[in-house]
Amino acid sequence: MTEAQAKKEIQDITEKVNHHNDLYYQKSSPEISDFEFDQLLQKLIALEEHYPQFRQPDSPTQRVGGTITKAFETVYHRYPMLSLGNTYSREELEDFNGRVAKGLDGNPYEYFCELKFDGVSISLIYENGILVRGVTRGDGIRGDDITANIKTIRNIPLSVKGKDIPASIEVRGEVFMPRTVFNQLNKEREDIGEERYANARNTTSGTLKMQDSAEVARRKLDCYAYYLLGEDISTETHEESIHKLESWGFHVSPTYKKCKNIEEVHHYIEHWETRRQELPLETDGVVIKVNNLDQQDQLGFTAKSPRWAIAYKYKAQSTSTRLNGITYQVGRTGAVTPVAELEPVFLAGTTVKRASLHNANEIARLDLRIGDYVFVEKGGEIIPKVTGVDLEKRKEETVPVHYIEQCPECNTSLIREEGEAAHYCPNATGCPPQITGRIEHFIQRKAMDIDSLGEKTIEQLYNLGLVKSPADLYDLKKEDLLKLEGFKEKSIANLLEGIEHSKKIPFESVLFAIGIRYVGKTVAEKIARHFKHIDALSQASLEELLAAPEVGDKIAQSVFSFFRKADNVHEIERLKKAGLIFKSEAKEIEKESEVLANKSFVISGVFQRYEREELQEIILKNGGRVLSSVSGKLDYLLAGDNMGPSKREKAEKLGVKIISEQDFEKLRNGQTL
Ligand code: IVH
Repeated sequence: MTEAQAKKEIQDITEKVNHHNDLYYQKSSPEISDFEFDQLLQKLIALEEHYPQFRQPDSPTQRVGGTITKAFETVYHRYPMLSLGNTYSREELEDFNGRVAKGLDGNPYEYFCELKFDGVSISLIYENGILVRGVTRGDGIRGDDITANIKTIRNIPLSVKGKDIPASIEVRGEVFMPRTVFNQLNKEREDIGEERYANARNTTSGTLKMQDSAEVARRKLDCYAYYLLGEDISTETHEESIHKLESWGFHVSPTYKKCKNIEEVHHYIEHWETRRQELPLETDGVVIKVNNLDQQDQLGFTAKSPRWAIAYKYKAQSTSTRLNGITYQVGRTGAVTPVAELEPVFLAGTTVKRASLHNANEIARLDLRIGDYVFVEKGGEIIPKVTGVDLEKRKEETVPVHYIEQCPECNTSLIREEGEAAHYCPNATGCPPQITGRIEHFIQRKAMDIDSLGEKTIEQLYNLGLVKSPADLYDLKKEDLLKLEGFKEKSIANLLEGIEHSKKIPFESVLFAIGIRYVGKTVAEKIARHFKHIDALSQASLEELLAAPEVGDKIAQSVFSFFRKADNVHEIERLKKAGLIFKSEAKEIEKESEVLANKSFVISGVFQRYEREELQEIILKNGGRVLSSVSGKLDYLLAGDNMGPSKREKAEKLGVKIISEQDFEKLRNGQTL
């Protein structure tokens, strides 16, 4: 390919990818399959890698991330990022309206209302239409440059196109994690025995500060734009700016409204008071802005906030009720969760009887006592929270809650590992909710998909002594099932068929189903592909486990100890005998070449262009071998970012060649180093 051809090809594919991105994300009407899209993108990535001089500054390849930022640079904001004054009542808002009227010398004015999005504010700088910088608010004067992470957010345009784009613009907006994404993320964390994230806002903030932008890309953040700044912007009202932002491809929440007077503002506030719960993100109020930009200038700023805008904060929906007691729930992994048992109380549309108290630290922090009147709040999250104690109503004879020491289900002494907030019941094989929890995990859709079996049936099967572990399911006979309440010919046949069908479920799902702590669906997929057979996995050393993609210390340790417990080994043997699939049915690797024949590699760290398993596949396809530890016999240590120092030291000491991703590509192309 000549340089001119490469340039043209890069332009063409970039255009195609942008077009399909637009169809997928903006218009929700894709015209090609995900696979075809991925092929296009991979082709573009490869071309850009070879011809970096032709990479377009707004190339869609930046969406997938891959850049590792070790420390974010602090940069000054061009215009300070101020905050907004808050109001909490109709009267305070009337006062604001009075100040505006006075400041505008009695001239007519209009308002523009938006919801106050509860995320993380961001400043986006576009130079000549190209997104060049994304900066956090920081202290309002200086923030962190998180451009690489910002570029992975699909709804933030990498470039703005049109006739009248000013040379330099700044767009402000709120980055957020949609409720659905947040809930899914938490569900995945629960599945692998990790603690849930407390709320979407903090999770968004943590995600934006991640070093690996590829991980940020996976978290599916979104962004609403709400403010346009710059020298030569030809708009006269905020409303026009908002329409401009929309036409440039920014995501603007469609909830805004122009209001002719403060009465209409009050209506807007009332309108969204409860309806805002149905929006895709959390909101905690309304932002009221004077619409005309000249009038905004006339009103100006105080040291902290604009005089032309204010926030109206919705009251957190809260009430107080009596804490009747605390009960303790034991989950599949043995983790104990304390639950507040409340005197039923009506709050924001539902009756609240219980609220999670998370762990012993939270109970101590709140200094809860049985009989206390506690404040219960429903914030953006649907699950109610206990936020404090009404000390005025506290009775004298109450004593602080003493956290349980024995499992409420099986009486075993609880343990609390260092650095962990939760208490655990260690009696994995004898504690009823842990047993039924494991079976529920095993049969779920993402695992063995036995949908003819539900929570109630599992409990009955357990109570009748018929099922104590997943393997027992495969010994169930029709006679056994006749003992189940409400089960007849048809339902029994259904259940047995569901169990039979699960024998065809692929290895990666089986691996997820057996419930190794910290092995969620994605990790199970990766290690199933890496080890290919349960025996290879069960015999793997810690070091070999660490060489698998996505496996860090915590997961490696968990997998290693799982296979060293006799009960687990026995259970797997029984599942094997029952006929479950315990090996990867992936096709044998098709050979590409022998350019890496007789060459051995250890792969370590994070790479710009490849996942570790991709590198592994390329090596195998081209005749090479992948080893897990550095020794004198090793040919190459393929080093990415964040590689542990011990591997490097060892390689240097033994004289093993340390090569980069680019070196590796040369080897793959048959070049010598
Ligand atoms: S406008 C000069 N509009 O609220 C101030 N801010 O307390 C311009 N926020 O840091 C801000 N939704 O993160 C504006 N529709 C909205 C907003 C909004 C949320 C946040 C923003 C800001 C904070 C101010």
